[in-house]
Amino acid sequence: MFYHDKRTQYPVRVENPNPVYAKMLQQALGGVEGEIRVMLQYLFQSFNSRGPSKYRDLLLETGTEEIGHVEMFATAIALNLEGSPAAVQEDAARRNPLVAAVMGGMSPRQYLSGGMGAVCQDSEGNPFNGSWVVSSGNIAADMLSNASAEATGIALACRLYEMTDDPGMKDMLSYLIARDVMHQQQWLAVIEELGGLHQQLPIPNSFDHSKEKTEFSHTFFSTAVDGIDPPQGRWSSGPSLDGKAEFRTMRLRAMGEEPQLAPPIPQAFAQMEEMRGGQERVAAMGTSSQGMAAGGSGGTLGSEGIGTRITDSLKTMANEVTGRGGSGGGSKAE
Ligand SMILES: [Fe+2]
Repeated sequence: MFYHDKRTQYPVRVENPNPVYAKMLQQALGGVEGEIRVMLQYLFQSFNSRGPSKYRDLLLETGTEEIGHVEMFATAIALNLEGSPAAVQEDAARRNPLVAAVMGGMSPRQYLSGGMGAVCQDSEGNPFNGSWVVSSGNIAADMLSNASAEATGIALACRLYEMTDDPGMKDMLSYLIARDVMHQQQWLAVIEELGGLHQQLPIPNSFDHSKEKTEFSHTFFSTAVDGIDPPQGRWSSGPSLDGKAEFRTMRLRAMGEEPQLAPPIPQAFAQMEEMRGGQERVAAMGTSSQGMAAGGSGGTLGSEGIGTRITDSLKTMANEVTGRGGSGGGSKAE
């Protein structure tokens, strides 16, 4: 469970409120590099942790610390909205707050939806997106994702630090940058404790990698066709990071064939020009399993036949879900 302390983790002071800066701070709150993302990422990784309990505890500690950072940025945004530069204040005296907000460069939603407070979005108004949260069930993958999140978070905090002259905001950001510095290292320290990249790679190291095409596992592909030399570096020669082979470089050439898809099904309503000649193309494809993938069998099947089969399958599935057992007139799929 969680407990709370109504005091902030570190002082949040704003001496010169600035609604434009409040909009910039939204990126550090609800953006992809922001505190809500890392808070949820560490907490979900902790909740989902099945490994050694100390890593579950580590993630829970820092995820909870990040809740405090979310609170700090939300508070900083609200405090920056409490006042505005002189020009905007004069404008606000003559007009309503929304006009003042727009003219002042702040986010309209901070007023419209937040009543002069922080909103769960980034600086461009994009809502926080939960799909940014990485919790993969693989601790090495998660730790690398966490270190990356902290790296982009520090870059953002440094930019915000340089954008303001407000002593209170600089002080708060100098604290948060320091915490990001620690977090970036602690996630990489977990990798080191687990034996380092040498032992963790390739991630996941629990897979039987003899099942992969190992001739490509340590080969840098060059896709350039303009005759330039491939970029050379640590990745192109010398021992691989997993210690299993030597890196090498190869010019990539097509190893497959040109894809041949079945013609459009009538129910997908492509243009007539795309559908015309479909039967002939199906016939030309013969019994190609690649071309017949949509039909589910190796036999020749016209576009209408494929469509009927898909439609029948969908009807059957719908009947099974609703328990009507074929009463809807759909025929059973094979
Ligand atoms: Fe943080």
